Amino acid sequence: MRTKPLPRSQPSPKSGRRPRGAAKPASHDPATPPALIDFMMKDWKPSSTQAPAPIEHAGAFAARRRALSKLYPAETLVVPTGHEKVRANDTTYRFRPGSDFYWLTGNVEPDCVLVMVPKAGGGHRDVLFVEPNPGRGDPTFFTDRSKGELWVGARLGVPQSRARYGVHECRGLPELAELLASLKKGRTTRPTRVLRALSEKVDAAVASSDRDKELATALSELRLRKDAVEVRELERAIASTKRGLEDVIRSLGPAGTAMSPGGARSEREVEGVFGLRARVEGADVGYGTIAAAGAHACVLHWTRNDGRLKKGDLLLLDAGVERETLYTADITRSIPIGGRFGKAQRQIYDLVLAAQRAALAAVKPGADFLDPHRAAMRVLTEGLCAIGILRGSVEDALAEDQQLHKRYTLHGTSHMLGLDVHDCAQARQEVYKLGKLAEGMVLTVEPGLYFQLDDLTVPAKYRGIGVRIEDDVLVTAKGSRNLSSAIPTGADEIEAWMASIWAR
Ligand code: GLY
Ligand code: MN
Ligand code: MN
Repeated sequence: MRTKPLPRSQPSPKSGRRPRGAAKPASHDPATPPALIDFMMKDWKPSSTQAPAPIEHAGAFAARRRALSKLYPAETLVVPTGHEKVRANDTTYRFRPGSDFYWLTGNVEPDCVLVMVPKAGGGHRDVLFVEPNPGRGDPTFFTDRSKGELWVGARLGVPQSRARYGVHECRGLPELAELLASLKKGRTTRPTRVLRALSEKVDAAVASSDRDKELATALSELRLRKDAVEVRELERAIASTKRGLEDVIRSLGPAGTAMSPGGARSEREVEGVFGLRARVEGADVGYGTIAAAGAHACVLHWTRNDGRLKKGDLLLLDAGVERETLYTADITRSIPIGGRFGKAQRQIYDLVLAAQRAALAAVKPGADFLDPHRAAMRVLTEGLCAIGILRGSVEDALAEDQQLHKRYTLHGTSHMLGLDVHDCAQARQEVYKLGKLAEGMVLTVEPGLYFQLDDLTVPAKYRGIGVRIEDDVLVTAKGSRNLSSAIPTGADEIEAWMASIWAR
């Protein structure tokens, strides 16, 4: 496979004009006179004709395409990955592939589209549309600032992508419009389903129908149970995340950061320290890091991260490394910035930990997805009543038509985890939120308590304390396995963990 020669890219006619589809030059770009183009097109070493190695776990990606194929015999399925998004003017955010497209192909280049075309004898022919790499045969290699090899690096190209991704066929993206137009015409006789909202061009080319939503739902539901490759990737993401948390703890101690020797002083530094680990060991963070110190911890998705760190406060750090394979961890630890929990902080921390342990014990195949949530809410509500924050009985507070504990618990306890931090979001309620847990599912268990600074129902000593403890859990054949159990959770363990990192 590795040494098979590939067909060479076809040179296109030389011209000073911008080829169709090439990006516009920016206002500050120097001119490219014809003489320069002529000069640039000559005297390059011939490019390699060796086929690239197949993608790791090509068989797992192919198995996923076959599973999807079985659901929709005789229908054409169109799954785009999406495009780079403008950040400002002519700069873009770093591209992140569409999760469903990636799950089916393993491909991480922007703009690609997978089209699964039904075969006469059953099954589908998987056609992957990718950006061609014209090599040095086309001036776009140095004139096209969004796709050119000398601007953004080489795209893999058509024959190389066929070899690497093991699909039945690869074609260049310029051929996609024609195929989509033929699908539009034949839609009544040969149904087509499109995964929407990833590519405006694809959406516009094929009329939408209710069938599209069913495709999105099916993909989410296929992704609910993880295969062995996916579980291993999640474990690796969690291991990197643990190292990222340790980096943050180190930065809070005497070693500090380059900006703050003697101890990191801002939430921004915490975010930056974790982000360095994520970029070095993974592709990125799987979601915006929540580095919430003091009362900021009472804001669930505090990603502004513009606060100061104070020694007596807790830091709620909710963060996850996303691997190159795009699987992400989602871990929260609430740690004392100065290394020791205060009395009130520890009291609330221990209550959240008890709730989390009850929820973890409720994760097993056949249980309701909501059982861990119910278990956590009961423990938290009992605790809130015992402290006197909730008045009246536990049962009254928990009653469906009351739910009074939510003033302090705010959010659900679990969500699916995988390629997306909130994974499988298009799955039907009856198989996800109102469904049963099954072997292979990976979910978070993350209860919390949040006492706002201005909440008059809360004794003053607790106001401004926010605690969340979040682990990532695999449902196994007989129960569950906490994939993040190596990251300390007990208050004593956390203090000892911090002390040991600071002593190194
Ligand atoms: N990091 C967001 C969440 O825990 O759901
Ligand atoms: Mn989280
Ligand atoms: Mn979460």
